Amino acid sequence: MTEHAHRAIMPTRKPARPFFSSGPCAKPPGYSPAKLATHSLGRSHRSKLGKARLAHCIDLMRELLELPATHRLGIVPASDTGAYEMAMWTMLGARPVTALAWESFGEGWVTDAVKQLKLAPTVIRADYGALPDLAAIDWTHDVLFTWNGTTSGVRVPNAEWIPADRQGLSFADATSAVFAYDIDWAKIDVATLSWQKVLGGEGAHGVLILGPRAVERLETYTPAWPLPKVFRLMAKGALNEGIFTGETINTPSMLAVEDAIWALEWAKSIGGLKGLMARSDANAAALDKLVAERDWLSYLAVDPTTRSKTSVCLSVVGADAAFIKAFTAALEKEGAAYDIAGYRDAPPGLRIWCGATVDTADIEALGQWLDWAFHSLRS
Ligand SMILES: Cc1ncc(COP(=O)(O)O)c(C=O)c1O
Repeated sequence: MTEHAHRAIMPTRKPARPFFSSGPCAKPPGYSPAKLATHSLGRSHRSKLGKARLAHCIDLMRELLELPATHRLGIVPASDTGAYEMAMWTMLGARPVTALAWESFGEGWVTDAVKQLKLAPTVIRADYGALPDLAAIDWTHDVLFTWNGTTSGVRVPNAEWIPADRQGLSFADATSAVFAYDIDWAKIDVATLSWQKVLGGEGAHGVLILGPRAVERLETYTPAWPLPKVFRLMAKGALNEGIFTGETINTPSMLAVEDAIWALEWAKSIGGLKGLMARSDANAAALDKLVAERDWLSYLAVDPTTRSKTSVCLSVVGADAAFIKAFTAALEKEGAAYDIAGYRDAPPGLRIWCGATVDTADIEALGQWLDWAFHSLRS
């Protein structure tokens, strides 16, 4: 039997949890909806109990993120997009803006800065797989960027490129990055995230983190455009501090909140931020081994220091969109891997989530299935 034919034989061992989507991501190991606390459901989110659960969720996030006391953290509507748009619409316009884009989500923030807010930002771009020149940024500007570009698998290596004495504010869309990388919070004025990524929580709510300079901006600047109620962070001329203690602007899903609390408590039980990062690192290393062993697989990210450890994007030699569609459909049909096609706007390829809720043994088990799909389609 040739090696080729051998590899086209269907493997026997499947990933136990074949959930490799880059959002919503796999639920934490051991998760079951039956394990969620439900005493806050059916109660007002403004009751003593509702507020206590929201505050508990906020406290757990602060602890897990190792967020310094200088930064506020609140739960806001509309997932990561809601949180990031809220920051853009409430704080931009005070000074010039630079927007960085190297994949679809960063490009989305550029579009809104240009077409909706009409800010004429300086745009610094790079193609899928590369990072733009971070040294070219004028830090008298406010700077919009995505910490981990989920659709190209390219991330910023660290926060060293953000100067401590910047005049503008740094706005990090950090949804695929937090809980997987060390974040130097002193360099971050605004960060946003959502629960359905590294935590394996539910969508719906965003999380907004504000450093002291962002709060100062809110308190001293009023944008020229109108703000819908769900974006308003100021009340009667002062910051609405309630948002950062669990008094949400409008009604949250307490089920999503309880689900996030469960995920955060799981994260605590495995060693907090370090434990989460260790799991993500182990997954990325296991995937790296698979890639190194196969000459038909390669990374979309060119530079290993900017390669994502969460949303890992891979190129398959000779594959076009139709090949990737057939490849991923075959794996899905067998229940071996779900949702591993690259993002719709990215070059055709695979994207395999390596965040902390994925088990390393499942990444390892994926290797032979990728071989099977590749060689079956090629033959
Ligand atoms: C980097 C990045 N930004 C924004 C979003 C949009 O997030 P949401 O659907 O939570 O609003 C995503 C979703 O995958 C993302 O990966």
